[in-house]
Amino acid sequence: MAIERTLIILKPDCVKKKLAGEVLKRFEQTEGLRIAGLKMKKLNKKILEEHYAHHKDKPFFKALCKFMKSSPVVFSVIEGENAVARVRDMCGPTDSKQAPKGTIRGDLGEDVQMNVIHASDSVETANVEIPRFFKKSELF
Ligand code: RTP
Ligand code: MG
Repeated sequence: MAIERTLIILKPDCVKKKLAGEVLKRFEQTEGLRIAGLKMKKLNKKILEEHYAHHKDKPFFKALCKFMKSSPVVFSVIEGENAVARVRDMCGPTDSKQAPKGTIRGDLGEDVQMNVIHASDSVETANVEIPRFFKKSELF
């Protein structure tokens, strides 16, 4: 198995509810996963239009950008074997109401939008998303 890196964003609902530590703890307590980078920042329209460009024609795009700008978010890069798929599995499906208990969204999310966390959906996506938010010197 390859050692991969994946980008996660702890969304405004997560930060406002003071659940960032709880989510990071789940990754840290998973054998073989570790934090390779961590920061907090407020997203702006320009970076959101880039990050969610593939959703720009979706009916939820405007609401999604408004939500993602509503408070600072926490960014992290998680590293480990097969990290991209393992982290996505730990998040659960997009809609928190459909997400099984034991997953981050199933335990901590509210609905399809306020679903706690973003995670890169493939190695290719991670390779684009990580340098969007982290300089090489900010990864360890
Ligand atoms: P993410 O990109 O955040 O990791 O989530 P995902 O792959 O599971 O879901 P995606 O389809 O990429 O959607 C991106 C984010 O948009 C919001 N969303 N709202 N109102 C809606 O129907 C709707 N659908 C998606 C969610 O915050 C979702 O995570
Ligand atoms: Mg996605």
